[in-house]
Amino acid sequence: MAASGTLDLAGRSAQTSLFNGTVGREIRLNAGDELRARLTNRLAAPTTIHWHGLALRNDMDGVPDVTAPSVAPGTLFDYQFIAPDPGTYWFHPHVGVQLDTGLIGALIVEDPNEPLRYDDDVTLVFDDWLDGVTSTPDQALANLSENGMDMGSMGDMDMSSMEPTAEGMGVSRRQPLGEDTGDVTYPLHLVNGRPAADPFVVKARPGQRLRLRLINAGSDTAYEFSVGGHQLSVVASDGFPVEPVAVDSLVLGMGERFDVLVEAGDGAFPVVAVPLGKPGEPAFAVLRAGSGETPKPARSQRGGRLLQYRDLVPEESVRMSKRQPDRTLTMDLTMEDGGRAWLINGKRFPDHEPLDLRPGERVRLEFINRTMMFHPMHVHGHTFGLVGYGAAPGVPGLRKDTVNVLPMQRLTADFDADNPGQWLTHCHNAYHGELGMMTVLSYVR
Ligand code: C2O
Ligand code: CU
Repeated sequence: MAASGTLDLAGRSAQTSLFNGTVGREIRLNAGDELRARLTNRLAAPTTIHWHGLALRNDMDGVPDVTAPSVAPGTLFDYQFIAPDPGTYWFHPHVGVQLDTGLIGALIVEDPNEPLRYDDDVTLVFDDWLDGVTSTPDQALANLSENGMDMGSMGDMDMSSMEPTAEGMGVSRRQPLGEDTGDVTYPLHLVNGRPAADPFVVKARPGQRLRLRLINAGSDTAYEFSVGGHQLSVVASDGFPVEPVAVDSLVLGMGERFDVLVEAGDGAFPVVAVPLGKPGEPAFAVLRAGSGETPKPARSQRGGRLLQYRDLVPEESVRMSKRQPDRTLTMDLTMEDGGRAWLINGKRFPDHEPLDLRPGERVRLEFINRTMMFHPMHVHGHTFGLVGYGAAPGVPGLRKDTVNVLPMQRLTADFDADNPGQWLTHCHNAYHGELGMMTVLSYVR
């Protein structure tokens, strides 16, 4: 049920919208099982649920005017579909900027033949929060569409005379996604609906192996994640397994997920997601294994080895075959009017020209970012392989459904057109999407 409600944020109460009264509630099922979920809309506005990352049937994808009508206030809709692939997914509405309320949840599809070994499995949902505290998402959107982005930020530079490259521009260890990563100011960053002052606690025994499923459900914030004093063994990206890689921290763009294995030390440790390019307290939780003083939230977690996409090689079972693309579709990403509009191929959604393809094709997507902001680009209903990452040259490697396209970067992703329908493709910055950075991949059986 979607309804308005009150969220207690360490003694501060925020009026917001919630699924079943909570933020980040988790649904778990086994791969191949049918998910049945009844959405009863008790909000004042129409809403939907989109099941982010799943290759599901198109009419259950929850995109108004593209896959199915929205669910009107006072009515209900039954979602019902098979969850085909194991992994870490999530869900949220696909109406306006409702994503920036409490209407978010985790969807965990377990593998009945799970090859990984671990003692416990914990989901951490990160979220940038303003609703009912400093403003509402609708006010933040109105502010951006009236005033555009912060003047003087790199993001509003005119890049029209430069050509995007494979490396992108203006990124560094300290600013892995560039200088301007978002334009909305958030008073709080939450883990599983809880602020740093009342942190979520992961309980373990020293030496236990934990699988942490990390989900960035934020609307305008990328996070750098780390666990104080621990190495992270990265084992999955957007639900799909990768060959394990040991790092100290990793970046999650909006909509991205990573699964990591962590071997709990003896004591209490800070679990931190630093909002990149934004001031203030991080999203913070505590890993408690054994005794020790509870750590304080601190931003100073950074250093050591940061995960790069090029470190990741898909597990053999999910590698895409080598094949020449049958069709190349270009997505030119631009900004207009000082950030009041964000465009794909010169159009501002809902104005768009659907990108047509045919079932059975190998389709190549060319993302060309002509702006100085990164865009976490998400394709519905498919998982693509990044060309040139984690595979031989020209072969699709790392599997993802949401990929951070860096400032002034050109990035190529291939997918197999095996799930006909009308599939939204968009920037998962909720504000960029709403200000136009969306289009549709279209094919029928
Ligand atoms: Cu999280 Cu259009 O999706
Ligand atoms: Cu964007």
